[in-house]
Amino acid sequence: MTHQIEFGYIEFQVTDPDALASVVTQVAGLVPGDTLDDGTRTFRNDAALRRVFVSEGARNDCSVLGFEAVDEEAFEDVSVRLAAAGYPVVDADESNAQRRGAQRLRCGDTPWNVRFELALGLARGPEIETPLVRGGFQTDGVGVGHTALAVLDYAESEQFLLNGLGMVQSDWIETELMAGVDLEVRFYHCNSRHHSIALAKVPFDLGKTLHHFQVEVNERDDVGAAFDRAWDAGLEFANGIGVHDNEDAFSFYVTSPAGFLIEVGHGTKKVYDPWDGNRRYDAISRWGHQPIPRG
Ligand SMILES: [Fe+2]
Repeated sequence: MTHQIEFGYIEFQVTDPDALASVVTQVAGLVPGDTLDDGTRTFRNDAALRRVFVSEGARNDCSVLGFEAVDEEAFEDVSVRLAAAGYPVVDADESNAQRRGAQRLRCGDTPWNVRFELALGLARGPEIETPLVRGGFQTDGVGVGHTALAVLDYAESEQFLLNGLGMVQSDWIETELMAGVDLEVRFYHCNSRHHSIALAKVPFDLGKTLHHFQVEVNERDDVGAAFDRAWDAGLEFANGIGVHDNEDAFSFYVTSPAGFLIEVGHGTKKVYDPWDGNRRYDAISRWGHQPIPRG
């Protein structure tokens, strides 16, 4: 399995950091990390000190996607490929590298108006306790989780992922969402995680790039426990519990106060090398994932 990079961290810029922090910790079960000088809060789901950044601002979207190179050779390889694909990365200044807790950091653009960062050597401490997630999070060798992005320019987006980051398509879904409304979502991996990024083709600007951010828990019961916490918090479930047809994930999606969704999942299939599972699926879910609006 080609494994040069992992989805290392994400930054959300939101109007109500307290409200999002509450979902990240009390529902998804991440653990608070330190607060940066500019007030940005950090959260973690493993030994890496900063996996999720929540800063205050008007976007209500993700503002940065950070990928971590597994070693210096990968760091250079991916930098060269990104430049050749038309997305050059440049060395970040020392303060930005420190902000991410990275030994080295390069920054660039994406086709989605979200900053891209390539990090080497994210700071790690001892393994942590995750009291709300008894079995812990699945991150070893696969990164923090995954994201699904709504993109207008699919061809450009795919070019960035395939030719720039060197990702491989895992599979795709083409289905009719409702009468006359087609949905196409493509899934891309860069290590054994089924996908680190999914791209949903959208016909018009939804006002948000991030559809959802997912964390994967090691034990199935921890999905149910997170569902109960979201229920008790009175949050709206964009999708109740269900199983995805292509990736096998047992999961639910809660609507965060910033509008994008947070997914907690378990049991997502692993990809292997050479990957022979790249095929079309015609349903999002094998069962479940119905919306559960709350009053
Ligand atoms: Fe997902």
